[in-house]
Amino acid sequence: MTKVVVEAQNLRKVYPIRRGLFREPAQLQAVGGVSFTLEEGKTLAVVGESGCGKSTLARMVSLIEKPTEGALTLDGTDAVHTPAAERRRLRQAVQLVFQNPYGSLNPRKKISAVLEAPLAINTQLKPAERAERARAMLQQVGLRPEYANRYPHMFSGGQRQRIAIARALMPGPRLVVADEPVSALDVSIQAQVLNLLADLQQQYRLAYLFISHDLAVVRHIAHDVLVMYLGHVMEQGPKPKIYARPLHPYTHALMASTPGIGARTRKRIVLQGELPSPLHPPAGCVFSSRCPYAQEVCHRERPIPRPVDERLVACHFADDFLAKGFPEEALEHNAFLSGKSGN
Ligand SMILES: Nc1ncnc2c1ncn2[C@@H]1O[C@H](COP(=O)(O)OP(=O)(O)O)[C@@H](O)[C@H]1O
Ligand SMILES: [Mg+2]
Repeated sequence: MTKVVVEAQNLRKVYPIRRGLFREPAQLQAVGGVSFTLEEGKTLAVVGESGCGKSTLARMVSLIEKPTEGALTLDGTDAVHTPAAERRRLRQAVQLVFQNPYGSLNPRKKISAVLEAPLAINTQLKPAERAERARAMLQQVGLRPEYANRYPHMFSGGQRQRIAIARALMPGPRLVVADEPVSALDVSIQAQVLNLLADLQQQYRLAYLFISHDLAVVRHIAHDVLVMYLGHVMEQGPKPKIYARPLHPYTHALMASTPGIGARTRKRIVLQGELPSPLHPPAGCVFSSRCPYAQEVCHRERPIPRPVDERLVACHFADDFLAKGFPEEALEHNAFLSGKSGN
């Protein structure tokens, strides 16, 4: 029986932004109501352009920041309204992997100390047992056990990310939140680290919240996909459905601009116009100011995600796109897009 590890309901995060001494702070909504369920052994990928709220969502799910609104449970326990002791225990169950492992590995600490630290705090293991666990974990992530005696600067980027993954797994987490974990790595190394993550997931039944701006990366690791734009969910559901046939114009545009997966359209869609500021989101659909298919209603009414063809789509016209596809003529006549043939 599969178990639900994370249940998020309508998570919302608003940051007050100071605007000088005498003005009320502005309200910046970084995440505007995101819901999902994540089971053990599964990966939910969160994708979208820079600034769409991915890291803010990651910080809420990893209990670094409290949501302004919404509910979050981890392994069935309320993770928002929890006493401090319970919160500490839950924090062990969620571990993070960041884009830049060098920034999160203390350069003066040997790898052994980095890996053993969580065991020293949270277990009764003797020093020799802790050292043994650390060495075993290094092997698990494809590194030699004797590397435990080295310092972070002695490793390559890919090796350092393996160390960061090893450290994340030491406390025995249920959920790993990985925020752009391979974005700083060469493409050849990316594939190796993604394979490692997939192997470890199988072995430990880990749930992953995997954050990336790159649909090509996500394709190999995701079971479910959640596409965000300006803090809102545009499209969300099983990866095979969404990759085979996106139904939101934003997902469609993202795919068309990702090399290797833009096969469904002959045109390369370049989204034009500035990404709006989350301080001043467009009225109606937040994507309406850049959407080549936007109609009057789109500037007026914000569509909420609703089920269409086995996924959720926040678009007034998702049923039309399902029936007829995305009309390419619209691209040629639209001031916001340049549809170029070929590349
Ligand atoms: N601590 C914060 N205070 C104020 N604004 C923030 C803070 N963190 C993020 N933001 C804003 O929230 C929005 C989403 O940011 P972020 O979650 O980092 O996006 P992403 O990870 O997708 O690039 C951005 O407009 C960003 O400037
Ligand atoms: Mg980010």
